[in-house]
Amino acid sequence: MSKCVVIGVTGGIAVYKALDVISALRKKDIEVHVIMTESASKFVNPLTFQSISQNMVVTDMFAEPKAWEIQHISLAQKADLMLIAPATANIIGKVANGIADDMLSTTIMAAAKAKVIFAPAMNTNMYQNRIVQGNIEKLKSYGYEFIEPASGRLACGDIGIGKLADVNTIVERVLTELSDKEQDLKGKKVLVSAGPTIAPIDPVRYLTNRSTGKMGYAIAEEARDRGAEVILVSGPTNLNPPKNVRIINIKTNEEMKNEIFNNFEWADIVIKSAAVADYKPKEYSKEKIKKGEDDLNICLTRDNDILKSLGDIKTHQVLVGFAAESNDVLKNAEKKLKNKNLDFIVANDITSSDTGFGSEDNKVVIISKNNEKLELEKMSKKEVASNIFDMILEKR
Ligand code: CTP
Repeated sequence: MSKCVVIGVTGGIAVYKALDVISALRKKDIEVHVIMTESASKFVNPLTFQSISQNMVVTDMFAEPKAWEIQHISLAQKADLMLIAPATANIIGKVANGIADDMLSTTIMAAAKAKVIFAPAMNTNMYQNRIVQGNIEKLKSYGYEFIEPASGRLACGDIGIGKLADVNTIVERVLTELSDKEQDLKGKKVLVSAGPTIAPIDPVRYLTNRSTGKMGYAIAEEARDRGAEVILVSGPTNLNPPKNVRIINIKTNEEMKNEIFNNFEWADIVIKSAAVADYKPKEYSKEKIKKGEDDLNICLTRDNDILKSLGDIKTHQVLVGFAAESNDVLKNAEKKLKNKNLDFIVANDITSSDTGFGSEDNKVVIISKNNEKLELEKMSKKEVASNIFDMILEKR
């Protein structure tokens, strides 16, 4: 059965580029329905979208219905995916704040099964405005996804970020989302660790690190989507727990070690993306430490290297580690691969601000114990996860 994409087009100079996206999707036999906002229809006539999509274009909520259905509900139900391209600051702001006052915003609000992806396009200052960025963060926390705008010369003459992402990038993303994932991990049991651990100092304070858990959660979701049974052992994060994944929340290195060891025998594949604290205060103070006039020294003692212990005892498991490095990335990663007796290591350079800790993307090299290297471009953490499993299935 052919897939159905509902494309929401909002008013901006990039409206015409949505036509190329639709045309590419139609060539793949994907059913496309277009909803235009009133301002979008001032840039390009809806008739053009009608011809390219080969479907009626909806603009007005209260227009005479063409069929006896409530249109915003029926389109929301029909869609396998909703793409808002170009997405203005206005539509992002409306959805983030629960406003549903036209055909497009009501349809987005009524979408339950379909993933909604925004491809923003606007002036650089608008895009970087904290209100817009706050709205984007809020939508991401609710599960809405974004295709980052590109940088370059904008229609207004400014140079900076805010151009609608490249048409090919948008089309690729839509096709990836629509593709039925091959169930090549069916029957496999995958154990993933994610996020930071904390090392308490006293009842108020603790030591931790900058890991947000995004990479590990993406790995757990990818394994689930490909048919695996998944346990995710997670340190404290602000992420929503993935559906259909058994999540075990922990705080300290010791708690993570216990949960990982309890489930190690069960697992076929173990991926340790957590940023585990290597040290903890030698003594935990049961009382809150009071300040004094002098410097305060806290003595730290070594904590468990969980991955190394797993490498020592592994039998049938494929063991994958991460190497967060700020220098000599490959050399240090190869050392860890060997010392910890791993099958694969995923090396990432944590010094770049748009990849690694906290960001949506990552740029990694995956190295196998046979020294095969897969050097990947910067890509979403979900795509990195997909490459990790491809490499495990191919090279093992
Ligand atoms: N790891 C672990 N237990 C630790 C430290 C790390 O299980 N105490 C795991 C991580 O989950 C990761 C891999 O080991 O998969 C490498 O972690 P990383 O922090 O890059 O390396 P370390 O071994 O801690 O070495 P260093 O901090 O000196 O770079």
